[in-house]
Amino acid sequence: MALQRRQFMLLLGAGIGGVAFAGTREKGQPTRGGVPFRPLRTTMPLPSDGLNPAQQRQAYQVVRVRDTLDLPPGYRQSLLASWGEPVGASRFGYNNDYLALLPQGGERALLTVNFEYISALPWRQGFAEFLGRSLPYEAVVAGLKSSGSSWDVWSQPLQGQLAQDVELLTREALTDQGVGVIRLKRSAEGSWERDPGQEDRRISGLAGFDDPAQQLYCTGPAAAVFRLSKRRGYDDGLGDRIIGTFANCAGGTTPWGTVLSAEENFQSQVPEAVHADGSAFPPSARPFHCSERRIHGLGNPLGLAGNKYGWMVEVNPADPSDPGTKHTALGRFRHEAVAVAAQAGQPLVVYSGCDRRGGHLYRFVSDGTISDPKDPANSQLLSSGTLYGAVFLPDGSGSWRALRTDTAVDPLPAPAPLPHSNRELGGAEHLSSEAQRKAYRQRYRTLGDLYVGEGEAQLGALLIDAHLAANAAGITPTARPEDTVIDPFSGDLLVTFTSGLPGSNGTADMAIFKGPQGQTPWNAGWIMRLTPGSGDDFRWQMVATGGKPQEGGLGFANPDNLAVDPGGDLWMVTDIGTSTQNSDKNGGSFGNNSCWVIPTSGPQAGEALCFATGPVECELTGLALTPSGDNLFLAVQHPGERHGARTAAAAEARTFNLELSNGEPLKQLRWVPLGSNWPSSKAGAVPRPGVVVISRSDQKPLLAPLS
Ligand code: FEO
Ligand code: CA
Ligand code: CA
Repeated sequence: MALQRRQFMLLLGAGIGGVAFAGTREKGQPTRGGVPFRPLRTTMPLPSDGLNPAQQRQAYQVVRVRDTLDLPPGYRQSLLASWGEPVGASRFGYNNDYLALLPQGGERALLTVNFEYISALPWRQGFAEFLGRSLPYEAVVAGLKSSGSSWDVWSQPLQGQLAQDVELLTREALTDQGVGVIRLKRSAEGSWERDPGQEDRRISGLAGFDDPAQQLYCTGPAAAVFRLSKRRGYDDGLGDRIIGTFANCAGGTTPWGTVLSAEENFQSQVPEAVHADGSAFPPSARPFHCSERRIHGLGNPLGLAGNKYGWMVEVNPADPSDPGTKHTALGRFRHEAVAVAAQAGQPLVVYSGCDRRGGHLYRFVSDGTISDPKDPANSQLLSSGTLYGAVFLPDGSGSWRALRTDTAVDPLPAPAPLPHSNRELGGAEHLSSEAQRKAYRQRYRTLGDLYVGEGEAQLGALLIDAHLAANAAGITPTARPEDTVIDPFSGDLLVTFTSGLPGSNGTADMAIFKGPQGQTPWNAGWIMRLTPGSGDDFRWQMVATGGKPQEGGLGFANPDNLAVDPGGDLWMVTDIGTSTQNSDKNGGSFGNNSCWVIPTSGPQAGEALCFATGPVECELTGLALTPSGDNLFLAVQHPGERHGARTAAAAEARTFNLELSNGEPLKQLRWVPLGSNWPSSKAGAVPRPGVVVISRSDQKPLLAPLS
């Protein structure tokens, strides 16, 4: 409890120089009397369930996992949009993730939605039903079986029907990724619903492939690389225009009304590795793949250039003619979250994270300064500036280290890939000994020694290879940063780190990313508060840590997206991996993915209170609140991802070793549905990703005191 008290003080911003929420809260409805809902029971005994140990034993001995989006009594939900519905000339894509709600005055708003990736099993199961035409998925699986389910279509074109089928699958799977904009209106009853209009449109993974006018723009130093007349690697022949955006995970909004959409796991579709001049490895380096449960390498049949993905994309949802712009000055990595800090008279500051094990936290600082944070011309500030990586020290201090051509090469003694020491080869290399690292440092003194190019193109090459360049510069490897949010009350940065488990290509710094009792590696994740200093320094503290209460955690696992409501309370959704949910793997005992409220004032301040639990094998994403905090837009991503449609009420009994609040052991029998029928709930129905809007039955702000 002492630990939770300490975390609560940190959450308030107290003790590390931030402004406390409690004394400064002015907006919204305070929650001083406690939240107006009884926290949902998860699969695990928690202090917030209000039960004594005997009651907990009774309640949790046998648990039946539900395949529904569950909310506390007094809240209601409605399905706003789901995969396959018409959006402009296209459709609502698959696996909705980030949601950007932009009020348009009065009772209207624009909702921008990211569509991240394809979950092959429920996608192919539902395609004919939701899109009205069949998909030759099984034919392609059969056609590629003898070649290990993969084929380098780019260098060895397929023939006949199989060629047509692969092209069709590629087009459909890329159409279902990218960004979408839908117009909303508020009905007379106060609920939000679609109001299709001229803003409704898609920027898909295929944008510009058939119509060059739809190709995306780019700004910043990498554009000079894309325009090179001679290069070491692959040339897609498009210069600085770009086909499509995909793997769009989290994102952010700007004060001037645009949306930033983060391209995360682009490496599933196109080669990640690049040459020393920033040019891409050939499409053949990531062959097309189609098997029962996986479809990837979608860039291969189309010849997409890998160096044009992994960027931050800016979209103006109010302008249907805007094809979208990739801002390369922000670096190329597995971009996830983004947070924009814009103050008049200051440079524009953009934070972002790279969600991979050992990925880094980044900060971009523009060259120019802001006159008016709401001025649309601020977009230009994203084209020129400096990218920094965060260096964390165990004592709670840290600093931002610039990633420039004059930055010293100084790799950490960690198992992280570096720019290959044979620069003629390009790509990455693991160095295993201190002697190798020393030789590397002597050979390459600065990042500029690793990348080639004339003028701006050299910095462009570095930024295209930002993750490896950051490893070479000794930037701290972190624990999968998923979301970044500026706390509007203190100006601090809140960052979710979802998991500190080690990976084969990188591992979080265990001196920083420890469990609440110092445990390493720690899987269950953290929310960090990062307080900027006067220059390039900062202070950091973990303000909420996932995990079982008995291990010092707050009862959730693997935090992902974050939002701060008008009252200053934190909302958070979890991302327990699909194969881990309800399994005996690390993290499986936490049940389905869920949505939590962490109050920052009142008697429950610092506690994590479960507000929603999602359907089976899904992830809850998005988390967009209306300005008044009376509606929450939540995306249900990949329901039934592992088992697809649940048929014949299929379920499996699994046992879990848990603990009651008093520490006594509890053996739990848990019935876990195999697959999902969300949202229809009809037996056998194919699960379908979709966005719901949640409100309170009395239409008051979600956390307003009950009257
Ligand atoms: Fe797409 Fe890192 O979540
Ligand atoms: Ca995420
Ligand atoms: Ca995630």
